[in-house]
Amino acid sequence: MKEITVIGGGTMGNGITHCFAQKGFKVNLVDLSSEILNAAKKNISNNLDRMIKKEIITSKQKVQILSLISFHTQMSSCVKNSDLVIEAVTETETVKMKIFQELDQLCKKSTILASNTSSISIEKIGKSTNRKDKVIGMHFMNPVPIMKLVEVIKSNSTSTETYEKIMSLSQDLGKIPVLVNDAPGFVANRILLPMINEAIHTLTDNVSGVKEIDTVMILGMSHPMGPLQLADFIGLDVCLSILNVLYDGFKNEKYKPNTILEKMVTAGELGVKTKIGFYDYSLGIKEKTINNRFL
Ligand SMILES: NC(=O)c1ccc[n+]([C@@H]2O[C@H](COP(=O)([O-])OP(=O)(O)OC[C@H]3O[C@@H](n4cnc5c(N)ncnc54)[C@H](O)[C@@H]3O)[C@@H](O)[C@H]2O)c1
Repeated sequence: MKEITVIGGGTMGNGITHCFAQKGFKVNLVDLSSEILNAAKKNISNNLDRMIKKEIITSKQKVQILSLISFHTQMSSCVKNSDLVIEAVTETETVKMKIFQELDQLCKKSTILASNTSSISIEKIGKSTNRKDKVIGMHFMNPVPIMKLVEVIKSNSTSTETYEKIMSLSQDLGKIPVLVNDAPGFVANRILLPMINEAIHTLTDNVSGVKEIDTVMILGMSHPMGPLQLADFIGLDVCLSILNVLYDGFKNEKYKPNTILEKMVTAGELGVKTKIGFYDYSLGIKEKTINNRFL
C-alpha cells in the first residue's frame, strides 16, 4: 500500500493522517470544511514540532512528512488511486453508510475501505457497498500519534486476506493491532464508556465533584487521566453516540446515557474541541477550571 485517503479531519482524522505520512505514505485528507482542514494542518505541524523538540524527528523530516499530505474538500477528487481509505467522520450510522456507498463507486476494485468507528457494526457499514469482504474496522486510539493500540474489527463478511493486510499494515505503522469481532462498542468502548457514564452518574448523584472524581481514579486506580477529563478529550458528542449504540445494541438500561451528557451535547459543550466540557479550557488545557453550568 502506498496511497491512503482519510475521510474526516477532526480529532482522529488528523492524527491518522500524521501517522501514515510519518511512515512515508502519500495521504489525502478530506473534510467538508476547509476551516477544519486548516486546523488539521496546523495541528499536525504543531505535533511534528513537538517531535522535533523531543529529537524524534528532524526539521528536514517534518518538511518531507508535510509534503506527503494533501487536503481536499471532496473525496471524488482524490480517492481514485488510494489503496486504502480510512473513514473517520462523525459517529453517525447514516452518515458513514452514505460515505461507504459513495466510496464503493469512486474507488478502484482492490481498495480496502476501513472505518475508525468507535461502536457501529462493520457488517452493517459493509452492506452499503458491493465489497463487504474489503470492509474492516481500524479503531485507532486518541491521540493517534502516541497511542499504540489499533482494534482491528473483522465482520463475518471481512475476508481473511483483508484483515491480514490490515494487521500487517498496522504493524508497519508502529502500532500494535488486536483483532476483535464485530459487536457494539467492540472491546475498548464496551468497557470504557460505561465507566465514563458511571462517573457522570456519580457526579449528578452529588457523590463528589468533577476534580474529586477524576482524582480518585487517577490516584486510586493509576489511570493516567480521570474519566470526566477523558470524556472531554474523546468529545462528549462521540461519548453520547457510542453510549446510544451500546444502549440500542444490547437493549440494557446500564448503557443509557446520563441526561447531563445529553444536555451538554445539545448545548454544544463537547469538551476540548469546543474548549468547554466538564472542564473549561478557554485559558488552555493546563489552566483548566471546572464547568459547573449543568450541575
Ligand atoms: N474522539 C476520540 O477519542 C475517538 C477515538 C477513537 C475513534 N473515534 C471515532 O472516530 C470518528 C471521528 O471522531 P472524531 O472524534 O475525530 O470526530 P470529530 O467531530 O472531531 O471530527 C469529525 C469530522 O468529520 C467531518 N465530516 C462529517 N461528515 C463528513 C463527510 N461527509 N465528509 C467528510 N468529512 C465529514 C466533520 O467536518 C469533522 O471535522 C468517529 O467515528 C469516532 O467514534 C473517536
